[in-house]
Amino acid sequence: MSGRKEKSYRSKKLVQSRLKLDCDRSPIVKCEKCEMSYMSASMDDIALHSKYHGMMLKGRHWSSKWGERHHVDQEESSVRRAITPPMSSPIRGQTRKLDVVVKVRRGHTSEVNAMLEIMGVVNRELNAPHDENEFWSSEHGETRGNAFVYVRNERAIGAITMEVLKPERCRWMVYESRAIVEPVQPVFKIGVSRIWVCKSYRGEGIASTMIDIARRHTIPGINIPKNLVAWSQPTNSGGKLARKYNGAKHKSGNILIPCYL
Ligand SMILES: CC(C)(COP(=O)(O)OP(=O)(O)OC[C@H]1O[C@@H](n2cnc3c(N)ncnc32)[C@H](O)[C@@H]1OP(=O)(O)O)[C@@H](O)C(=O)NCCC(=O)NCCS
Ligand SMILES: [Zn+2]
Repeated sequence: MSGRKEKSYRSKKLVQSRLKLDCDRSPIVKCEKCEMSYMSASMDDIALHSKYHGMMLKGRHWSSKWGERHHVDQEESSVRRAITPPMSSPIRGQTRKLDVVVKVRRGHTSEVNAMLEIMGVVNRELNAPHDENEFWSSEHGETRGNAFVYVRNERAIGAITMEVLKPERCRWMVYESRAIVEPVQPVFKIGVSRIWVCKSYRGEGIASTMIDIARRHTIPGINIPKNLVAWSQPTNSGGKLARKYNGAKHKSGNILIPCYL
């Protein structure tokens, strides 16, 4: 959304620049399933692809001891979709009662490190900066947000990081043009910094479910309404999710999305 941030997103294409340097010595292949491009003769790249591929298609192992657990079947709204997937879904009919969304606890090294590893893959797919984890992972200072993970069968198949927002960061964005509405300054409460769902499980309502649960558990004791959740520089699919989740119809006919800088 902001020009500043967009620029820094682009400047993080670390792997692409490495591929270019060696491209005349080793063929670059693109995996059709996870869409990662890598050098087929590089052991490092093969290992990197293997890890990325596994995460994108099956998620990451998540111990049942990690995180503060929230059972999705005890929460409302989009959660029901996760329990009853669409007719077309290959997993329709299987119970979702054991799905949980866990809040990653600061100071619990194993779960924080596992979440950081997930964020590495997420930031890679989003082409986003890799250094925006402090607000949910740091043990020091005021609580400025949390990370949540969607867990099914002991695998993390979705993740979200949610920030508590200062009013001066909040803006409206026009969905169609992605233009920021100036000089209006709305106030939103929390913001989706990153949201990601494993490729194999998209379209089941998992992202919406994670936001629903994060709204309840980011600020203890407060259930933040949907319309006070903002988005940071949504991607194409993130924009569609935002539009459906809490886009607002303006009298001009445009759809506005709550966002933050
Ligand atoms: C964006 C993302 C998190 C959505 O996850 P998801 O679990 O599939 O989302 P949900 O199933 O909860 O979607 C809810 C609604 O949002 C809309 N939506 C979400 N993703 C969409 C897409 N790719 N295309 C069209 N509509 C989409 C739909 O209206 C959907 O409801 P419907 O299926 O009843 O029509 C997922 O596609 C993803 O991880 N993408 C890569 C990372 C990314 O771009 N993150 C966004 C950063 S801002
Ligand atoms: Zn792959």
